[in-house]
Amino acid sequence: MELKKTVRDVNLSGQKILVRVDFNVPFSPGTLEIANTKRISASIPTLQYLLDNDAAIVICSHLGRPKGREVAGLSLRPIWDKLNQMLGLESAFCPSLDFSEISAASQKVNPGEVLLLENLRFHPGEETNDLKFAQNLANLADIYVNDAFGAAHRHHASVQGVTNYIPSVAGLLLEKEILSLQSVLTMPKRPFTAVLGGAKVSDKINVVRNLMTVADNILIGGGMAATFLAAESVFVGDSQVEETFIDSANQLMKESRALDCEIVLPNDAVVSKCFGPDSSNRICDVSDIKDGEMLLDIGPSTSLLFKDVLSATASALWNGPMGVYEWPQYSKGTRAVAESLSRENITSVIGGGSTVDAVSSLGLEARMEHVSTGGGASLEFLEGRDLPGITSLIDI
Ligand code: 3PG
Repeated sequence: MELKKTVRDVNLSGQKILVRVDFNVPFSPGTLEIANTKRISASIPTLQYLLDNDAAIVICSHLGRPKGREVAGLSLRPIWDKLNQMLGLESAFCPSLDFSEISAASQKVNPGEVLLLENLRFHPGEETNDLKFAQNLANLADIYVNDAFGAAHRHHASVQGVTNYIPSVAGLLLEKEILSLQSVLTMPKRPFTAVLGGAKVSDKINVVRNLMTVADNILIGGGMAATFLAAESVFVGDSQVEETFIDSANQLMKESRALDCEIVLPNDAVVSKCFGPDSSNRICDVSDIKDGEMLLDIGPSTSLLFKDVLSATASALWNGPMGVYEWPQYSKGTRAVAESLSRENITSVIGGGSTVDAVSSLGLEARMEHVSTGGGASLEFLEGRDLPGITSLIDI
């Protein structure tokens, strides 16, 4: 990916800046209480930089998937309060997506001040990348800053369309995400190990394909391991195998050998006949999984094996938990990997919503080199795909 201009490369003083952030944060179920504020705090360095450089800021974001209509529970209002606390100022909020109202509100924003717009996805033009909608957004400002790495894979008006109309550069978070993920893809410290997990192999198959061209090892856990094991003719009982991906998994394992990348699969597992937090379970060799049993975590011997590989690793990338980590009895594999990646002499880059949750619930986030704010965006980046929110920015 080419290098892009950032907020450091443009004159900001006295300019009105439209900043696209990703404030798509989780709420505690049934409440308007933000369960994890990381995506808001991650945007603060860019916003503070713009304020320090005497810019007037109009912030926009999406929240959830309201599909072009107003949904009360998806307003950005609760995020506005948190943003004010974090910035230590009183910003303005425009509750309407009517452009005459937004325009009037944005004209009142002076250098050193901030306006937050309502959830852009309340308007159908956002997701359809409607050019009029994009142009209206662009008309609010002199310069556009994309700091929404989490949404950079979306061809949406506030991500891509808007860049057709005003000079568009990266924010500091977007820059950090690109540099961190890019560095493991292009010049990782060696040995370099990728750890991939999560439920579905279909989500990760192209990531495996791209990473095996650069990684020395790929450790595979989580539900997706079942399809790889099935490709090796291991009987995996009732584990979720994606039949249509067995051939690809098989092919990748062959190709990886030719590329000198070792794909390591679990040799034991925690299995249960019932998918539930308190289900009775047993630990067994993967060759001993019985009819009706499903793989819910990697087993202790696999954890040790993965730990051994990671102890000899200089840099690592992790995306996807090793088991159903939300349930304590199936969280040990995920914990073992998180602990291995948090030691001092390893550079660890973490991506993907549930992996990030697991790392932060273990209190290990601060020990990682980089914890990405992107879910789908980080996966597409790791697949080696161009993301419209990045490619559309001005090249250096
Ligand atoms: C995310 O949570 O991954 C981003 O905010 C993108 O959200 P989306 O998948 O609804 O586009």
